Formats: sequence, C-alpha cells, structure tokens
Amino acid sequence: MDLINKLIVGDSLNSLRKLPDGVVDCVVTSPPYWALRNYDTNPVKWPDGWVGELGLEPNFEQYITHLCDIFDEVKRTLKDTGTCWVNIGDTYGGSCMGLSYVGHCKGKNSILPDDLSYMPKVAHSRGKYNKCLLMIPFRFALEMQSRGWIVRNVIIWQKPNCTPQSMKDRFTVDFEYLFFFVKSPKYYFEQQIEPFKESTIKRCQGGCGRNKGEHYQGLSKENYEKIQQKVLNGELKGKNKRAVWNISTSPFRGAHFAVYPPKLIEIPIKAGCPEGGLVLDPFMGSGTTAMVAEKLNRNWLGIELNPEYAQMAEERLKNAA
Ligand SMILES: C[S@@+](CC[C@H](N)C(=O)[O-])C[C@H]1O[C@@H](n2cnc3c(N)ncnc32)[C@H](O)[C@@H]1O
Repeated sequence: MDLINKLIVGDSLNSLRKLPDGVVDCVVTSPPYWALRNYDTNPVKWPDGWVGELGLEPNFEQYITHLCDIFDEVKRTLKDTGTCWVNIGDTYGGSCMGLSYVGHCKGKNSILPDDLSYMPKVAHSRGKYNKCLLMIPFRFALEMQSRGWIVRNVIIWQKPNCTPQSMKDRFTVDFEYLFFFVKSPKYYFEQQIEPFKESTIKRCQGGCGRNKGEHYQGLSKENYEKIQQKVLNGELKGKNKRAVWNISTSPFRGAHFAVYPPKLIEIPIKAGCPEGGLVLDPFMGSGTTAMVAEKLNRNWLGIELNPEYAQMAEERLKNAA
C-alpha cells in the first residue's frame, strides 16, 4: 500500500484499521472538538453501536472514548520512535454549550445557526456543569495516558488575536492546548532553540549574572560563567524552546472553518519528524498538515471524512506546490 502523500476519504477509525503497524513517524492533528461544530460528515458507526459524527455525541465521556479508540489505532500505526501532537480545545457547559466558548452565543450579533438540532442535548451540562469549563482536553490526555501513551508536554498555544468574548464574569480564553505524546521513552526529537532575550545577553555582557547573594540561577558559579562565555562568543545561540507558543490564528480563504495556523505545526514537524519521514493527520480538514509537511521536506498521509473538505485540501496543496 503506497502511503506517501495520499489523502484517504473516509472515517479515521476504519481507515486507520487498514493501515500497517509502525509506518508513521509523526502524527499532527486537530480532531473535531466536542459540541462545537457540525462538519456535515457522513454518520460513522462506532464500536459501541452509536451512529453519528465525532464531536456530536450526547455526552463528552462517549466523545473521549471514540476519540481515544481512534488514537489506539494511531498508536499502532506509529513507529516506536514516533511522536504524536494533538491540538484540542475546551467547551463550557451551559445553554449555548460549546458555542459560547468561541463567542458565538445567541445575542445581537450572533452567528449561531437557527437550527441547533445537530448539537448534543447535553442535559447535564445545563445542570451540574452549567457555566463550567468541561476540562475536555485534560480528560482526553488522562484517557490517552491510561491507554499507554506517554505525555511529554502540555503546550499552550497562546493567540494574540483571539476572538473577543462578550461575557463579563470570567476572563477571555486566549489559548488552546497542544498535547505532545510519545509511544515509548526513546523517540525521535530534534531540539528546537529559541533566541535568548536581549536582557539575557545584556546581563552576560555586563559580566554579572548573579541575582542577590551567590545565586547563579540554580547553577554553580563555575558552570554559570561557562555558559555566560558561550553566549558571549556566539557558541550558544539560544535556549531550549519553551512550552508557551505565541502564534496568531491565520485565516484561510477556503470554506473550512477550523483551520490551524501553519506556524503552529511547523514546530512539531521539525521537532518530531525526521526529514523524509511520514506525517499522519487523521483529521485532515483543509490540508494544513500536508502543506506544512511538504514545505519541510516530509511526506504526509491524511484522512478526511467529508469529501468536500478532502477536495479543498487537494486544491490547496496543488496551489501551494
Ligand atoms: C478541526 S478540523 C481539522 C482542520 C485541519 N487541522 C485544518 O487545518 O484544516 C477536523 C476535521 O475532521 C473531519 N472529521 C470529522 N469526523 C471525522 C472522522 N470520523 N474521520 C475523519 N475525519 C473526520 C472534519 O470534517 C474536519 O474537517
């Protein structure tokens, strides 16, 4: 089966089941979030007998089970040295359910569709969980952990241009999560370096890195001075990349509404996939993962259930080539 630069039109669970073991180097993806959008996909029959679209399950427990069933298959197809990066957002329980989270709550400037019949009837989210952040990303990560994944990082994708939110009784949520999972303790990872802050360089130039007393930022004086020298002579160009990433959302002019910014996934692909390796996206949408993989000289394999989005991805890739 030729898996290189292929887009499979089908549902992830059943499509992944047809793939061989241990062929993928890196998984980068963003699944449908729970109770947020209707992607108009064909209904999928799940192993528990429920028929419907991922993300529109009547409760989040069932959504997490379905999602992790998919990731069990992802794990099987991943090499032992592989890495897996999942962008997933949260939802507030309450009368507008997930839509309130992105500021689409019914109101004067609402863009809420009139017909909400596709949304899960989350009885308990109006009661016990009313106004409560449902902590879905963490419920997902914990279930992944209990199914054998190693959680290496929780990355905060901070959005400087986040959508304004109208509520006045809590803070505006301006970030999402990107979870970094691996299959085994030894895996491919190319360290990513971010430049030192100007203040760090200035401190080194001043020849004094000390805070008060004999405190050398947790290092011995000797080691601290060695590092300081390396910064000054240009041998050390920066520090290990931090886990809060400040990246603007970038609009894509196609008709897909849940596109992630190419910049967000450049980092995982560079860090978690060797050149020439295979990047899998089991929820391909408009093809951002494939586009970035090609740009970075990696191969890709995508799965998308909605044929219109698959077509959109193919066209986007053709135009980017
Ligand atoms: C959050 S979007 C992904 C967007 C993508 N990262 C991009 O930048 O365009 C999720 C995608 O998963 C697709 N999808 C939903 N259920 C699916 C399933 N069971 N199998 C495969 N794809 C599915 C949706 O049609 C949607 O395009």
